[in-house]
Amino acid sequence: MTSESGKPKVRIAASLLAADFSQLGRDIKSLGDGGCDEIHFDVMDGNFVPNITFGAPVLEWIRPLTNLPIDIHMMVREPGRFVDDFARAGADYFTVHAEACAHLHATVQSIKEAGMKAGVALNPGTPISVLEEILPDVDRVLVMTVNPGYGGQQFISGQLTKIAALAEKLPWRADGADLAVDGGVKTDTAPGCAEAGASVLISGTGIFNHPDGVISGIAALREAIDGR
Ligand code: DX5
Ligand code: ZN
Repeated sequence: MTSESGKPKVRIAASLLAADFSQLGRDIKSLGDGGCDEIHFDVMDGNFVPNITFGAPVLEWIRPLTNLPIDIHMMVREPGRFVDDFARAGADYFTVHAEACAHLHATVQSIKEAGMKAGVALNPGTPISVLEEILPDVDRVLVMTVNPGYGGQQFISGQLTKIAALAEKLPWRADGADLAVDGGVKTDTAPGCAEAGASVLISGTGIFNHPDGVISGIAALREAIDGR
C-alpha cells in the first residue's frame, strides 16, 4: 500500500503502556476512530526489564473491543512459555527479544505453529548479526530505540543506522515481513525512522499524551510521517 506521497505506507502502532487504564475501552475505541493501524501490548516481567506490566488475561478483556491487529511485545525471559496463552487470548503478532531466548529458532517456530506472526526484537546494544540465521523465518523485526522497560524515554538516534542496515538486509519479502521501531517515536523522530526504512512506527506517549487527545496524537504522527 502507498500513501498519497507515493512512498510505501508506514503503519502506526499505539503502545497501550501510555493509555489511561481506568478508561482503557474508551482509549482503544479512539485508536480505531483515529485511524491507528495496530495496537502494541507491552508485557514486562520485572526480570528481563526492571518493570512489570500486564499479561494474557488483560489481552482477553481487550480483544473483543477492537478489530485492529495486536502485537505482543514480550520483554520477558524465555517468552516461549507464554505462546499458547497469548494465542488463545487472540494475539496477532508475538514479538520476543533475541536476548531473552536461549533457543530463538525453536521459539519462533512455536509462535508460528500457534497461528501467530513471529517478531524478533533487538535492544539498542544488540547487533543485527544475531538475526542472520533467523531472518527468513520471521514476520517482523523490531528495533528498540530506547532501552526497554519504560515509556516516555528519549529516542536513541544512533539506532537509525541499524534501522537502515536492516532495511537493506531484509529484502522486503512478498509475504510482508516488516521492520518496526519502538521507543521515543514522536513527530520529531518518526520521519527519520520512516526515511531509514521502517514500516511500523510504535508510539506510546507520543499518541496518548497529546494535549488534544488520542485522535489528534495519531493525526499528528500521520502528518509528520506522510509529509516528510
Ligand atoms: C518500552 C516499550 C515501548 C514504550 C514506548 O519498553 O517497549 O513500547 O511503551 O513508549 P514511548 O513511545 O513513550 O517511548
Ligand atoms: Zn514495546
